[in-house]
Amino acid sequence: MQKKWWHGKVAYQIYPKSFLDTTGSGTGDLRGIISKLDYLKDLGVDIIWLSPCYCSPLADQGYDISDYYNIDPRFGTMEDMDTLLAEAKKRDMYILMDLVVNHCSDEHPWFQQALTDPDGKYGRYFYMEDAVDGHAPNNWRSYFGGSCWEPIPGTDKYYFHAFHKKQPDLNWENPEVREEIYRMMNWWLEKGLAGFRIDAIINIKKALPFTKYNYPADRPDGLVRVTRMLDDAVGVTDFLNEMRDHTFAKYDAFSVGEVFNEKKEDLPAFIGDDGCFSTMFDFNETIFGVSEKGWYDSTHITPEDYKECVFRSQKNAEGIGFLSNIIENHDEPRGVSRYIPAEDLSDTSKKLLATIQFMLKGLPFIYQGQEIGMENFPFTSIDQVNDINTRDEYEVALKAGLSPEEALAAVSYYSRDNARTPFQWNDSPNAGFTDGTPWLPVNPNYQSINAQAQIGNPDSVFSFYQKLISLRKDPAYAETIIYGVLEPYMADTKGLMAFYRRGEAQTLLVLANFQKEEQAVSLPAPYKNVICNNYDTVAFAPGSSERCPSQIQLKSYQAVVLEL
Ligand code: GLC
Repeated sequence: MQKKWWHGKVAYQIYPKSFLDTTGSGTGDLRGIISKLDYLKDLGVDIIWLSPCYCSPLADQGYDISDYYNIDPRFGTMEDMDTLLAEAKKRDMYILMDLVVNHCSDEHPWFQQALTDPDGKYGRYFYMEDAVDGHAPNNWRSYFGGSCWEPIPGTDKYYFHAFHKKQPDLNWENPEVREEIYRMMNWWLEKGLAGFRIDAIINIKKALPFTKYNYPADRPDGLVRVTRMLDDAVGVTDFLNEMRDHTFAKYDAFSVGEVFNEKKEDLPAFIGDDGCFSTMFDFNETIFGVSEKGWYDSTHITPEDYKECVFRSQKNAEGIGFLSNIIENHDEPRGVSRYIPAEDLSDTSKKLLATIQFMLKGLPFIYQGQEIGMENFPFTSIDQVNDINTRDEYEVALKAGLSPEEALAAVSYYSRDNARTPFQWNDSPNAGFTDGTPWLPVNPNYQSINAQAQIGNPDSVFSFYQKLISLRKDPAYAETIIYGVLEPYMADTKGLMAFYRRGEAQTLLVLANFQKEEQAVSLPAPYKNVICNNYDTVAFAPGSSERCPSQIQLKSYQAVVLEL
């Protein structure tokens, strides 16, 4: 694998709307981010990914862009953006923006012009298709519910949207569209952006012609999930390689793909040495248990499933490329509330999850608030939910016969709003996020879980993340942590997630007791050092001694990294 400038870095995702509000509007802004760069630097972050802050009606919280060349006034100005880029550079930090180009907003001038002339130049920027016998061209269901097709007023045509109807898909088959996108990307890269996180990108290639691909319905609504078409949509990497050559490659820029539903054999094309992205997120754990029927029918993940998912991803990527590892992001519930059984949630178990994430091979991305152990929101009413996806899933659950209470419980577990509640800076009103009324309620646990209480406290979750980041950058271990081969250890032992990282300089062994009960674990060899531990000490199992430990006794949710 060729070595790249970003391999040893640590990345952090900011959801601007919920990070820090400096104006009292209730919505976070770029000035807020600038004021917290030192906080992030102190944590050890190098690369910052900003979720969208371009002009947008915010139908999908900015993932519906109406002007790619401007900052939405709610988040600030282009001057603020330039200041952010300059201030980051001063601190040797890199800024990534979100590249949302599968679709734009229906309020983008391209789409507004397309509506007035669906057969004209801008009509061809989108998918505007004739009705078939008065119906939509096919039976695909959008990610956010309902048909992918919306009638175009005053015509017998429909336009295509894989997501919300306010997010019309751009027609990547049209070379003019691709040129527009590359021009825009290069404009940002010229400004000093280090790269992009690439949104929903697998969807840019459609199975065409649309009318040929009606599939058997998978729900009573007579529709079929839009992802069903991905098997028949071949050639996405042709577009992506072109994009790389016209943009990233010229700037040595970093790109991380949001890719779902990839096939194992596609990995080299995505993240191999000549791949179209620098890296892509591993979503194997996040998609575990998904049901075609909806969230209400999905299977909750257990620690055993988690282990299996992670190891499978690691194995698939070994020798091919670098994955980006997450515990959560703005589309997921909080990882600590999802992967740790509710009754076992504690600082110790949160640190265990962090240890695993940081010791895997790949680039760690922290999602804002993860570093202080933020948890899911205790929803008591669907009225507290803003997210369109969650609201749709709630309706799906009700239609399937669940009571309102059951439906709320089912969607609360997965809701994207869990991760979108305001960042908890301190224990003052609204957790110090805003002087106004926050756009989403603050998690009531902010008085105990907040950054101020944790910074400088050696036992806090925040300090533990700092330690993990320092370890990843420690010259004595960095090479092994970044490039060492990952090999599962005692993979069949229940409640234990253990693996080697075998590097040229040393072998590390990560032992995570992913359960409440203590457990004795046999060591394959004596260890030289404990280089990370979420307890103060390591205990030896009966019969073992400090001089010659053959077994150690892991405490409840203890995670240790040993140098063998
Ligand atoms: C991606 C984003 C998500 C958004 C969707 C549509 O999955 O992460 O937040 O809703 O794309 O742009």
